[in-house]
Parts: sequence; C-alpha cells; structure tokens
Amino acid sequence: MQNLLKTEALASLPDRLPVTIAGRTRRVYDLVAGVYPLSTMFFHSKAHRCALSQSGIRNGMKVLEIATGSGEMFRRLVQANPDGTTVGLDISPNMAARTQRQVCREFPKARARCQAVDARHLPFKDASFDAVVCCYLLELLSRDDIFRALEEVGRVLKPGSAFTLVTIGQDTDFFNRLYHIAGSAVPAFWGRQIEQEVPKYLSECRLHIEHDRVVRQSGYPSRVTTARRRR
Ligand SMILES: C[S@@+](CC[C@H](N)C(=O)[O-])C[C@H]1O[C@@H](n2cnc3c(N)ncnc32)[C@H](O)[C@@H]1O
Repeated sequence: MQNLLKTEALASLPDRLPVTIAGRTRRVYDLVAGVYPLSTMFFHSKAHRCALSQSGIRNGMKVLEIATGSGEMFRRLVQANPDGTTVGLDISPNMAARTQRQVCREFPKARARCQAVDARHLPFKDASFDAVVCCYLLELLSRDDIFRALEEVGRVLKPGSAFTLVTIGQDTDFFNRLYHIAGSAVPAFWGRQIEQEVPKYLSECRLHIEHDRVVRQSGYPSRVTTARRRR
C-alpha cells in the first residue's frame, strides 16, 4: 500500500498538523467522553441526520462507523439497521466503551459492537462492508495518516459501496479564525480544518464523490460528502 503524500498540489501546501498526535488525542478524548454528547447535541446532530439520509444505508447491511466518539451517530446507524450488523470504532477506549454500553442498553437485540481501534489500521478483511461512515475525524490526522485511513476505508468497502464523510466546513472567515485559535491552543482536540482538501483526498483514494452538501447548526458548518468506491 502506497501511503506517502500523494498529490503534488497537496504536498506543496503547509500542513498545520504535520504529525498525528494520536497518543494525546486519545488521552484528551478519553477525558471528555462523559461530556462529549453535549457537543454533538449543539453542533453535530444535524450533520449526522444528513449523513444518514445521504449514505444510502438500508436495513440488513454491514455498516462500519469510524471514530464514533460518544456514539450519537452510531446509535442512529444501529436504529436504521436493526437486522444488519453495525460495527464502530474509536481510538479512545472511554469513547468506545461508552458507545458500546449505550447501544447494548438501547438496542439489546441488535448485532452491534464498538471497540477501541485506530482508524489507520483497520482489523477487517478486504471488501467486508456495505457502507462506511466517518464524522469529524480527518481534522485530527496528519495528511499522510488521512491517506492511510482513507486507503483503509477503500480496502474494507465492497466495490461499488459508499463512504460518507463529515468534515468541519471552511466557508466562513469568522468561524475559520475561531477554529484556528482553538486548534492552536489544543491541537489534540481540535486539529485543523481540512474540508477544502477533501475532494483531492477522496479522488486519490479512488472514492468518487456523488453527493456533497454543507449544513449549519448553531453557526457551526459541516460538509457532508458521500463517495462511492469504484468497482
Ligand atoms: C471530533 S470527535 C468526533 C466524534 C463523532 N464522530 C461525532 O461525530 O461526534 C473525533 C473522534 O475521533 C477519535 N479519533 C481520533 N483519532 C482517531 C484514530 N486515529 N482512530 C480512531 N478514532 C480516532 C477521537 O477519539 C474522537 O472520539
């Protein structure tokens, strides 16, 4: 697998997160796991709804969510897929455990599990999922690791299946400035915005964009992109 920085256009841009700080990210998200649902409620739930409807996920599929956080999107996926299998992962053991607990409580009969796994190395066979979803993770990975994670997505997706990605929008100067300050203060939590590079990342990884839209919640913009793995 070729994981080095791919396009020359991207390689020439400076990256504010040249190295993934996964250890720090895991510790920060472990710490905030108990209160993280608030952030989803105020900023992410609209994008989650949009991602689910855009993803084409139907009951009976085998679905993977990467970087579940505290499990709000994961619970939507399990609810939409009661007769299928829904697998989740997050690098933070506390986030993964919280997601697993909630799903067991709310959907005791569902085939759903969530584990602590790093998105850069997915422990699944090639072409084993009908759909993959990932919300607000790429901001936290270096460029090389974004490619690494997206190559893994392409590998585990069945040919012709869809990947739905949510990234933090970059279309408002004021919001971008705020995000820049937050990201400089606590990079392991906020990372940096990468939304404008998404089309290049996806096409380099042979994921062809089919749907793309921006939604806004409490002033927070999210880009919801669905791309299909080429056959
Ligand atoms: C901004 S939160 C988003 C959580 C959730 N997807 C949502 O929409 O609210 C980012 C999540 O990515 C997880 N994460 C960061 N790096 C990761 C990696 N390399 N592999 C898997 N998960 C990772 C963090 O632990 C955190 O839960």
